[in-house]
Amino acid sequence: MHKLARLDRQYVWHPFTQMQDWDRREPIVLVRGKGAVLEDANGNKYLDGNASIWTNLHGHNHPRLNRAIERQLSKVAHTSALGLANEPASLLAEKLVKAAGRPLRKVFYSDDGSTALEVALKMAFEFARRTGRARSPRFLSLDGAYHGDTIGATSLGHIDLFHKTYGGLLFKTDKAMSPTCYRCPFNRAKPERADARTTRKCNWECVGKVEAQLRRRKYAAMVVEPRVQGAAGMVMHPDGWLRRVAKSVRESGALLIADEVMTGFGRAGKLFAGRKEKVTPDFLCLAKGLTGGYLPMGATLTSQSVFEAFLGEYEEFKTFFHGHSYTGNQLGAAAALASWELLNQPKAKKRRKAMENVLGRELNSLWSLSAVGDVRREGLVVGVELVADWKSRRAFPLKSQAGIRVCEAMTRRGVLTRPIGNVVPLLPPYCSTDAQLRRMVRALRESIVEVFGRERV
Ligand SMILES: Cc1ncc(COP(=O)(O)O)c(C=O)c1O
Repeated sequence: MHKLARLDRQYVWHPFTQMQDWDRREPIVLVRGKGAVLEDANGNKYLDGNASIWTNLHGHNHPRLNRAIERQLSKVAHTSALGLANEPASLLAEKLVKAAGRPLRKVFYSDDGSTALEVALKMAFEFARRTGRARSPRFLSLDGAYHGDTIGATSLGHIDLFHKTYGGLLFKTDKAMSPTCYRCPFNRAKPERADARTTRKCNWECVGKVEAQLRRRKYAAMVVEPRVQGAAGMVMHPDGWLRRVAKSVRESGALLIADEVMTGFGRAGKLFAGRKEKVTPDFLCLAKGLTGGYLPMGATLTSQSVFEAFLGEYEEFKTFFHGHSYTGNQLGAAAALASWELLNQPKAKKRRKAMENVLGRELNSLWSLSAVGDVRREGLVVGVELVADWKSRRAFPLKSQAGIRVCEAMTRRGVLTRPIGNVVPLLPPYCSTDAQLRRMVRALRESIVEVFGRERV
C-alpha cells in the first residue's frame, strides 16, 4: 500500500463515509490533475465524473485559474473583511450582482455552501422580525432538501438518513412536498420514455400542497434548490414548478431563498438555474463552482430592502453580527473572477450546449438496462436511478448498496463519481471532451451490466 494511503487510514476521518468500510480497499490518494483527469499516487488515471463533488467547472490545473491565483498570491493571500475591503472581492461582487439581476443588490461572502445558507437564514429571520411579519419566524423547505451540514443548514434539511440523528440539536422547520415526478404519488409523472407506463396529465397537485403549507403560517422564507435537488438524488423539477411556487411564496409575503450552491454557474444549463423560469429570489446562495472548484468560498446575494433592515445608528445595534475569519478571501475571489471570465466566454457557452447534446445522446443507451429506472438530466447534471424493478419503480433497499457497487465498478474502469443512495450522478467538468463524456457513460453502462446484468425484458 502507498505510504500516503497508510497515513490516511491511520489519521484521517472522511466525510459521509463509513470508516469501518474504509479498510476494505486501498484508499485512492489523488496527487495531481489536468483538465478532467485526476491521477493517484500509484500513477492511475481517472476521469473526474462528478467534478470533485460538484465543484469543478473548467477542469483541474487550469492555466488561467492558476495564473490568477499566482498573481493574487504575489500581492496578498488574505486580509480580513471585518471593516476592510479588498480588490478581488469588490470586483467579484459587482459581477455577481450585475449578473443576478433585480432585486439582488448586495453580496455577503462566507466560506462554503452551508455558511452561504446560514447567512441567508439569519438575515431572513431577522428581516421577518424587524418588519413585524412574525416574532419567531419559521422556514419552509422541501422534502428531500439538503442545504449543508452546519446546524442551521441541517435544520432546513429533510433527508432522514442525514438529518434525523441530529433532530435534538436542530430548530424546527416545516417540510413541503417536493415535485419528484418519478415517484409522483398522484401517478401523473411524465413517461420518461415512450414505452414507460402511460400517465395522466399533470394538474400540479404538488404546487397545491406547497400553497396549502404556505397558508398555514407566516414563514420568514421558503428555501429551494431551483430545478434540481442534488442530494435528494438529482431530483429534477418539472418545467413550471419553480415559477408557480415562487409566485405563491411572494403572494404569501414570505421571502424566497434560492440555494444554487450546486446548480449555479452554468451547471444546470443557465448561469443560474432559476433563470430557466425567470425567477429571481430574495436570496441567492452560491458556493462550489464560485471559484471554479479551486478554493472554498460562499456568497449570499440579497436585496436592498433586506440590506436596509440592518441599517441604523451604531447604538441601535442593527448590525448584521455575523462573519468568518476568511470572509471575502482574496485568493478565492481572484480565482472566482478568473473562473467567471472563462464561464462567460461565448465559445464556452456553446461548448456546454454541445456537451449537453452529447450527454443526452449517450445516456439514451442506459434505458435498456433492467436495473435503470430513470435517467434524468438538467444541463450538465445527470442522475441515473437504479431500481430493483423498473416496471413498478421498486427501489433497491439501501443496505444492498446498489449505488456504491456500481460506482466501485466505475472506479475500476477509471471514472470517479459518488452515489447518492441508489442514484449515480455524473457532473462532468466543462472542459471534458466528447470522448471523455462517452467514456463516462460507457463506464456507467458497463458497471451496471457487471453488477446487475443486462437488458430489460
Ligand atoms: C444544494 C446544496 N446546498 C448546500 C450545500 C452545502 O455546501 P458545502 O458542502 O459547500 O457546505 C450543498 C452541498 O452539496 C448542496 O448541494
